[in-house]
Amino acid sequence: MEGQREVWEREYSIPDPLWKGPAPEPVLNGGRVLELGCGNGKTLSALVRRSEAVGLDHSMNALRACPVRAPLVRGDVLRLPFRDGSFDAVLLHHVLQHLMADERAAAAAEAFRALRPGGLLSVRTFSVQDMRFGKGAEVENHTFRRGNGIIYHYFEADELRALLSRFEEASLVEETAPTKFAKGSVRAELVGIFRR
Ligand SMILES: C[S@@+](CC[C@H](N)C(=O)[O-])C[C@H]1O[C@@H](n2cnc3c(N)ncnc32)[C@H](O)[C@@H]1O
Repeated sequence: MEGQREVWEREYSIPDPLWKGPAPEPVLNGGRVLELGCGNGKTLSALVRRSEAVGLDHSMNALRACPVRAPLVRGDVLRLPFRDGSFDAVLLHHVLQHLMADERAAAAAEAFRALRPGGLLSVRTFSVQDMRFGKGAEVENHTFRRGNGIIYHYFEADELRALLSRFEEASLVEETAPTKFAKGSVRAELVGIFRR
C-alpha cells in the first residue's frame, strides 16, 4: 500500500493544491518558530511576518509550491533535524491528525525536544465532533483512511492532553464552525497552547 509521504506528494502534485484557505491567526509572536508539517505555507505565510520562522514538511512538492520566504526543510516530524531546545515556539497545525498512534507519540516527543524550556507549542487538530469523523476505513481507534489514501485521526480533548502530558497546558478549547454541507454538520477542532 502507498505510504503516507507518497500520498501527500501526490496530493501536492495537483495544480490546484490543497490547504488554500485563510491562515489561522498565529498566536505565537516573535522569536524562533518552527512549523511542523507546513505544507504549501498557508500558516507559515502569516508566521514569517512576525517571527523568525522555519517550515518543515516531508513533501517536496508541498515545499516547492510554498511561496514563503523562509527556510524550508524537507524532513519527518518523527525525527527532527534540529538540536535540543532550538526553538521558542513550535506549531503542529493539522498534522497530528494525519499520524498513527505511535507516530503521534514520536512527534509530540520531538516537538518537546526541539523547544527550549518555557517554549510554547501551538496545536490544532480535528476533534471527534467533526462532521468527517467516521468517514473512510477505520485503521486504528478513531483513525480512518479516506478515499484519497490520507489518514485522519479525530481526538478527544483528554486524549490530546494525555499525548502532551509532558507539557504544561496553557489553554485548550474546541472550536466549531457550521459547514454548508448538511444541516447541523460542523467542522470541529481542538485548539491549544502548551508550555514546555
Ligand atoms: C493538513 S496539512 C497542514 C498544513 C499546514 N500545517 C496548515 O495548517 O495549513 C498536513 C501536512 O502535514 C504534512 N505531514 C504529514 N505527515 C508528516 C510527517 N510525518 N512529517 C512531515 N510532514 C508531514 C503533510 O505533507 C501536509 O503538508
